[in-house]
Formats: sequence, structure tokens, C-alpha cells
Amino acid sequence: MAGGAMMKADGGKEYPGKMTLFVFITCLVAATGGLIFGYDIGISGGVTSMDSFLQKFFPSVYHKEKQDKSTNQYCKFDSQLLTTFTSSLYLAALISSFFASKITKRILLGVGVGFANQSVPLYLSEMAPARLRGMLNICFQLMTTIGILVANLINYGTTRIEGGWGWRLSLALAAVPASIITVGALILPDTPNSLIDRGHQEKARDMLKKIRGTNDIEEEYKDLVVASEEAKTVESPWRNILDRKYRPQLTVAILVPFFQQVSGINIIMFYAPVLFKSIGFGDDASLVSAVVIGFVNLLATLVSIATVDRLGRRKLFLQGGVQMFISQIIVGTLIAVMFGTSGNATKPSKVFAVFVLVFVCTYVAGFAWSWGPLGWLVPSEIFPLEIRSAGQSITVSVNMLITFIIAQTFLTMLCKMKFGLFFFFGAWVFIMTAFVAFFLPETKNVPIEEMVSVWKRHWFWRKFIPDAVDNKGSIEIVHGRLRNNKV
Ligand code: BGC
Repeated sequence: MAGGAMMKADGGKEYPGKMTLFVFITCLVAATGGLIFGYDIGISGGVTSMDSFLQKFFPSVYHKEKQDKSTNQYCKFDSQLLTTFTSSLYLAALISSFFASKITKRILLGVGVGFANQSVPLYLSEMAPARLRGMLNICFQLMTTIGILVANLINYGTTRIEGGWGWRLSLALAAVPASIITVGALILPDTPNSLIDRGHQEKARDMLKKIRGTNDIEEEYKDLVVASEEAKTVESPWRNILDRKYRPQLTVAILVPFFQQVSGINIIMFYAPVLFKSIGFGDDASLVSAVVIGFVNLLATLVSIATVDRLGRRKLFLQGGVQMFISQIIVGTLIAVMFGTSGNATKPSKVFAVFVLVFVCTYVAGFAWSWGPLGWLVPSEIFPLEIRSAGQSITVSVNMLITFIIAQTFLTMLCKMKFGLFFFFGAWVFIMTAFVAFFLPETKNVPIEEMVSVWKRHWFWRKFIPDAVDNKGSIEIVHGRLRNNKV
């Protein structure tokens, strides 16, 4: 066997191989799963701000908005029914993500989202060479942001269709991203992990050679086989994941998606047009601001793609968190100055709304190079194979559950908490940034089957990892010992 894996100074391992065109295209096709997720996020907000849609489905909201001019801006759109339209999708996604590790290929909106978010991030993380895993995985988030932007643009176009049936087109066009991933799923190859798992050893070897662009894959192959054998000894991943030794991974699998959502990002993604309408923009300007935000979201994601494997996850998380926190405090303050607690602006002004837009954009940019992509990347790369699928289902479910709760309650919370709502989400961003600072280990460049080493070295999590792990250097020892350990 030529070459083999190289040990790195930090005790991690680097397998031979380069970025191949094959792996790049494969990852790009798989990442299109993000398009449907993004389209769904972007489409509902615009649709719920269209008068013809409100008139048809939510006439009471429509009349309240049109007739009651003196009404408190904070409460203009407060309607549980209206938010149910947006939030129901995430309920569907939540339920379907539980079944996604067993079944695939469904195209209903929410159902599609649950399935794509379960399988795509894992697929990308298994396919990618460790050194480029961040970049390739974030293609999923990039596609998500493209989906959101396209939806915003479509809403902008369909809202001016005569006869008020534009919202139908907006919703129907969701079939396009759904078809793309369905076709993609038919042509995508299996990951080496999944081939080994199903007993196709030779095919797995060939696939590994193909995606790594080298014949020198024996070392990585062996590690994958060992991981797969270990996984087979685990009868119930759902019960197993509760074992003490998986506590670090389980905590991250729950808290990262929870934090990603309580950052308040989807207030902006779902309700930007409604929000900007409330603070003084006209119909058109509100939809344009959603498009501007969509562009910022997409461009800032590219920053993450370019830096995540060099700077690492933690630096992006920390910088992004600080930027989001500051922006939220400024937005909250601007709205407080303008609308106070009564919600009645003396003079709602365009200049003011533009300022709000600018700081909403710096907030979105901070999110888009940190919690947005990393909220999917980090959970997908930390689990050992035996609990990987169950772990990812938990991540998707928590994400969808919190998305659902926020989508459902936002308009009521705005009505009750007023500008304080922005400080409320700001406080969460503070907490989650502190969590990263103290509890999240760096995972860049570490092969996923070697990830146990990062917990073992962490000041807090090390006590959960069985002592059998030897830190003298060799990861082989780590695996060999761990395997016999029945903790
Ligand atoms: C989040 C979504 C969010 C999107 C914005 C994703 O990572 O999971 O909830 O709407 O980023 O780009």
C-alpha cells in the first residue's frame, strides 16, 4: 500500500486525495436539495403580504389592515390563522424528518423539506474529503439562500399580475425545485459509507477511489469498514444516542439548531415584507427590501464557503454572533425610537425604514456566514456512524419545531413585546455565542470517523468520553480501544 494517512500535529489524520470534478458535481447536485427548503422559506412571507391572497384566505386580517389606519403598527397583522399558513409547513417537515432515514423520494412541500434536510447535509459530509468538508457542505446552505432569493424575486413579479392570481403561481412554482432534487436523487451515487453498510465492499472501494482521485485509499477504506462494523453492533441508535458517551454530540445536535432558530433569523426571512410594511414602506418597497435581504444572504454565504475550512467553524460563529447581536440591538433601538410602546409612529419615514433595512442586512450577513451554514454543517459532521442518522433526525426535528413555534407566534409576540422582541432575540444571540465560546470544539479538517478526538481534548466534554481513548497520538489506538469499551 502506497502512502496511507498522514498524522497531523494535533493528533488528527489526513487521508490522501484531492478535490475531484466528480465529487464536486456530485455535491453540487445533492446540494440542490437546499433549493426547495429555501424556496419554501422565501415564498410564504411574500404571499401573505399580497392583498389578493389575504382577501381570499384571511379577509379579517385584510380588513383590519386596510380600514383601521390608526391601529397600533405592532399588531396590524396579528392573526394566528395567518401564521398557521407559514408555520404548518415546518410541522410537516418535522414529522417527515423522523421517517427520512428509512424512506426517501417524496415531493410534497414540507415533506420534501424534512427529507432533504435529513439526508443532504449527511451525504455531503460523508462524500467530502475532510479538508474541504466545510466548503462542500455549505453548498447546501448556498442553494437554500438561492431558493429564498428566487422566491423573493418571484413574489415581486407575481404580485403585479393583473387579476390577483399571482400567489397561485408563486406557490405552484415550488414544484420546480422539488423536481430538481427528485431527478438529482435518481442520479446521485451512494456514499462509500452507505455502500459498505449494505455489504458492497468492492463498489465502496471503487467509489472511494473515484471521489478521492487516487488509488491510495486503503487506509480510509479500512477506517470506514471499522466504523461500519461498530455501527452494526448498535441495535437501537435511538436508545443508544442517550448513552452518556454520546452526551456531547447529543447536546450539540439539540442546541445548535435550537440556537440557530432563536437567533430570530426567520422573523426576517418569513415576515420581512410584512415587517417593512409595518414600519413605513409601501407594498412595492417592502417586497424590494425582501429581495435586497435575499441578495445579502446569498453573497454572505459565499464568504463562509471561502473561509470555513481555513478559519475554522469557531471563528465564524463568534464573529457572526457579535455582528448579529450588535445589529439586533440597533434595530430594536431604532424601532423603539420611532414607534415607542404605543406602536403609533408620529411620522413613519422612508429614511427611518432605510436605516432599519441597513441594519437588518448586517444582521443577515452575520447569520449567513455563521449560524446559517454552520447550523447544518456542524451537526452533520460530529456523529459517529452508529448514531449519525438518528442524530441528524434530531437536529432537523429541533430545527423545524423551533421554526414552527417562531413562525406561529412571531406576529403575536411582536404585538405583545413590541420593539422588545428584537432585544429578546438579541439576548439569545448573546447566549448562543457564549455557548460556542465555551462548549463547541473546533471540527475543521478532522475526518468524521476520527471526530471522537475533538471531544476527548475538550476541557468540558472530555469527562464524557471513556478513558480508553489514548491521547499519546495514534488515532488507531483511539479506535482500537474504544471499540472494546462497553461504557
Ligand atoms: C436556516 C433557515 C433560514 C435560512 C436562511 C437556514 O440555515 O435553517 O431557517 O431561513 O438559513 O438563509
